[in-house]
Amino acid sequence: MKDLAGKHLVLVLTGGVACYKAAELCRLLVKAGATVQVVMSDAAAQFITPVTMQALSQHPVRLSQWDADEPNAMGHINLTRAADAVLVAPCSADFMAKLAQGRADDLPSLLCLARPAQRVPLLLAPAMNREMWVHPATQRNLAQAVADGATVLGVGCGEQACGESGDGRMLEPQQILAAVVASFQPKLLQGQHVLVSAGPTYEAIDPVRGITNLSSGKMGFAIARAAREAGATVTLVAGPVHLATPAGVQRVDVVSAQNMLLAVMEQGQKATVFVSTAAVADWRPAQATDQKIKKDGSGQVPQLSFVENPDILATLAQSPRAQSGELFCVGFAAESHDLLANAQAKRLRKGVPLLVGNIGPATFGQDDNALLLVDAQGARELPRSDKLSLARELIADIASRISAKG
Ligand code: C5P
Repeated sequence: MKDLAGKHLVLVLTGGVACYKAAELCRLLVKAGATVQVVMSDAAAQFITPVTMQALSQHPVRLSQWDADEPNAMGHINLTRAADAVLVAPCSADFMAKLAQGRADDLPSLLCLARPAQRVPLLLAPAMNREMWVHPATQRNLAQAVADGATVLGVGCGEQACGESGDGRMLEPQQILAAVVASFQPKLLQGQHVLVSAGPTYEAIDPVRGITNLSSGKMGFAIARAAREAGATVTLVAGPVHLATPAGVQRVDVVSAQNMLLAVMEQGQKATVFVSTAAVADWRPAQATDQKIKKDGSGQVPQLSFVENPDILATLAQSPRAQSGELFCVGFAAESHDLLANAQAKRLRKGVPLLVGNIGPATFGQDDNALLLVDAQGARELPRSDKLSLARELIADIASRISAKG
């Protein structure tokens, strides 16, 4: 999946040791399908050579507004007219000050000022020492740049090249790539609060054993990411999975179905959409023992009895907020056969307006899937694709249902 296919980016490097990460970032942007024109300040060229950036971007790097190779001698204008975005990474404290003041004394600052601001977003990935970052002058400049229309992608926290530790590191290249990709997604869920449940639950038998299932959580995490990209506030209630939290998503980790019910009911108070992708265990052992059940050599096996878990989706779908239309509930059904009939029946049983069917054994743990969207009117198939693309399609579908309702 080439998330940046057809996009033309101007990648501006300003002075800072984080320039070494800009090389990897450039490579990721190109791999994601973008064409990348690199521009470097004099200070940036002290940290990494233009030759490296030329090799990675496959285009000569622009270094000066006095470049005689530009036929009309207007590099600062030409550079941004065909651009879909200008990305400054790393963005130094000094460059932030230039942006805040509208200065234009080198090619990077000139092109930022000369870009068609309504059409070409300016994305900043700051990088500096923690004291420089928290300095009131930097924060003032940052606020001014944002007020003038720039988007700050944030900074990382941790060990710095100077040996100190704190806020101000440049985000990792993968994080910047994800933020650039997100910036191009339509903001279909702006103002909405989306709650997603994902992954399996784990029902303890004793302190070392339990019952779970093969859900990887990938579909739910992709939906949380797509909802965030679409501008929503997103809370992700996750069972035990080994997946990174999508950027900008608030995550609540839970273990059992009962934990998940509590978390979902609490978060559901403020949500406007609930997407229940979690593969919740239907039953749990009636009694989890405090101590490990021992094999005593007699050949006797433990007798386990089960009780039914609460149905989280059905419970939330019955809540006053869902019934009044303030909360739009979406269920998932992992089936092994008769997808349409099973999904239709499940939609009615759960009392939700939209139920998404998929074939469990064909999707658990995989990176792709196929979805069947079932509502009161009928069914629509989203053909097999990677989970993030499907998640974006599902989010667009949910957004159109909410706006039709509102
Ligand atoms: O009944 P079944 O497990 O097939 O239903 C699937 C849908 O119901 C999913 O959306 C799942 O997250 C939700 N569910 C639930 N609580 C349960 C069982 C399923 O919320 N105990």
